[in-house]
Amino acid sequence: MNRRHVLDLDDFTADEIELVMQTTDAMKEVLARPIRRVPPLRGKTIVTLFYENSTRTRVSFELAAKNLSADVVNITASASSVTKGESLVDTIRTIQALGADVIVIRHSQAGAPYVVAQHLRGSVINAGDGWHAHPTQSLLDLYTIRERLGPVAGKSVVIVGDILHSRVARSNVWGMTRAGARVTLCGPATLMPPLGGDGLPPVTVDYDLDRALEGADVVMALRIQRERQTGGMLPSLREYVERYQLTPARLRRARPGALVMHPGPMNEGVEISPEVAYGAQSVIEDQVANGVAVRMALLYLLVGERTTELAAAPAPVGARR
Ligand code: CP
Repeated sequence: MNRRHVLDLDDFTADEIELVMQTTDAMKEVLARPIRRVPPLRGKTIVTLFYENSTRTRVSFELAAKNLSADVVNITASASSVTKGESLVDTIRTIQALGADVIVIRHSQAGAPYVVAQHLRGSVINAGDGWHAHPTQSLLDLYTIRERLGPVAGKSVVIVGDILHSRVARSNVWGMTRAGARVTLCGPATLMPPLGGDGLPPVTVDYDLDRALEGADVVMALRIQRERQTGGMLPSLREYVERYQLTPARLRRARPGALVMHPGPMNEGVEISPEVAYGAQSVIEDQVANGVAVRMALLYLLVGERTTELAAAPAPVGARR
């Protein structure tokens, strides 16, 4: 891959996305082995720097880096010198001086990973910045669809919920359309960003979920981000549930066997009913599991030592094989 950073999918070509998908296939094969550790990142240091909470993204990056034999340092901003007033740029300079090859950053401010990229000699991966982008989530979503349904091109994908505050929706609009899917965004008008003038590729917008779901191959419910709501955006949670919750009855409007996705964390009983979240069509746990392989693929493509290929790392002395 001819790039140093992964900041969003707006600058990814369809070929680059396909390269990530094929490399993820190889990483899934590594993960199926009895010993999952391979050497391509031996001697590299990966720093995860999280200014916002996370479970899936942070843990999967840590596992991904360790599976590739990297050294991993996890920094949570609330437990770092950030609380003493250190700026983002000073934090980055410090981490660089300590030898980071890759910084994986999550920040509440849109654009923060781009600032880091300007100050770091190594690579930056955006693990979510404000409402703006979450490219690695979109890549794992794409991989999960491809794994279950084959090529993403031509598939109809409905993304429903709080689109306005969703970095997952934005990156998925880029990623899914670049991969050839037809994307429909659905939700209340108050939670829909102005589209058309913001440079996003063309998508369909529908405020009626029952109509939007007709013939869908994939339905992705988004979390209602209560922490990002300001007054008046959500009429009432009860009304939202009535009109936009993904229920078994609504799901029957989609194609038989349509995939149910959710980036997590879920508000069960709000944007998605428990029957759908844990039902036969749900691939939500696959998304989480695929997150490790996709992030291994990205780390490998950005800074991996290709000459080592993906042969197993030598077992530590005394370890049983
Ligand atoms: N999907 C996602 O980003 O989850 P976390 O906030 O748990 O990382």
